[in-house]
Amino acid sequence: MDVDRWRSETPGCADKVYLAGAGTALPVAATHEAMASYLAREVELGGYQAQWAAADLFAGLRADLTRLLGAESGHVALAESGTHAWWRALGALGLSRGDRVVVSDVEYLGTLLPLVQRGVQVEVLPVSPDGTVDLARAADHLAGAQAVIACHAASHVGSVLDVGSLAAIRADVAPGAWFVVDACQSAGQLPLDAARWRADVVFGTGRKWLRGPRGTGFLAVGNRVLDRTPEPLDTNTGSLTSGEPMPAAGIQRFEPFEAAWASHAGLAAAVRWLLDTGPSAVHQRIAELATGLRGRLDGLPDVEVLDRGPAPGGIVTFRHHRYAATDVAAAADAAGVVVGTSTPHPAPLDPDMTGPVVRVGAHVYNDEADLDRFAEVLADL
Ligand SMILES: Cc1ncc(COP(=O)(O)O)c(C=O)c1O
Repeated sequence: MDVDRWRSETPGCADKVYLAGAGTALPVAATHEAMASYLAREVELGGYQAQWAAADLFAGLRADLTRLLGAESGHVALAESGTHAWWRALGALGLSRGDRVVVSDVEYLGTLLPLVQRGVQVEVLPVSPDGTVDLARAADHLAGAQAVIACHAASHVGSVLDVGSLAAIRADVAPGAWFVVDACQSAGQLPLDAARWRADVVFGTGRKWLRGPRGTGFLAVGNRVLDRTPEPLDTNTGSLTSGEPMPAAGIQRFEPFEAAWASHAGLAAAVRWLLDTGPSAVHQRIAELATGLRGRLDGLPDVEVLDRGPAPGGIVTFRHHRYAATDVAAAADAAGVVVGTSTPHPAPLDPDMTGPVVRVGAHVYNDEADLDRFAEVLADL
């Protein structure tokens, strides 16, 4: 563990305590450098030419993501966000009115909306006393479902789903159901294993725990999905052959041609940084920081930590019984500490989300002094 190095590689942590990693984590300097040098090549060569000249860089990014996700080679596409990756996958799943899709109570609004718009029936898995999915009662709900969506790490509360166990239940009782993993809040902070999970879809975003730039995401599809035709196709992902829409070959049918390629160049540097640093060291450090923060919060009056289960992951959420979440965030900001808030809006299935909460995400560039400083802010409120 090399916290000094991790801090020195992160320009944004020099002048403040940044604890808003669940929204957008601070990037390493190499990410910015990769984007700046890519943009310089666009200025010099022209946009298309810069993209073609950097074909190896983007192939390297897809290969690195493949490794990180535990996916199969040739099954990973780049996207503009987690949501766009999900839309593209959804367009290939053929879900329609009357189909039943099983989700957990922490499911993210953006994942749910296009399902509900399609008339799909959304069923919520039962919750156990510790607040996480009750896997012992999951089988009955999965049987006969057309799809199961595993939101690996929730957005609005520290809560991690045991995707491996849910995947095993799915394979047992609902092998025909699509198995979809939302890795938006887990990629970069938790191990991923698309192949072992036999996931049909894994989608994620670049700007959170992966420390990538805005406007980046990715999609991994399994063999059953790779052979299908996503709807709608576009000029890069399909063609008209004798008047019939035809998908492009292989994974290209899931990846748009028009993209902010400079951002993808930044994501390439971010993912490389993670692989070079060692994902397990990063995962461990994020978990340690979250545990350290929860320990500090537990001792404070009027602070109620909301995270669920034995290993809630890197997101730490709490309610302050005297101050609104936005006031807590404002007080922290005034003291040079950046934290986020979360509202019930993105979590419409969660009955415990009755109002805004403070959301904290510490990453490897944070240290114990950062956690102490935030705890002091709360103690001084
Ligand atoms: C759990 C979860 N899923 C999906 C998304 C959507 O990702 P994006 O904003 O990149 O579209 C988010 C974003 O906050 C998220 O937290």
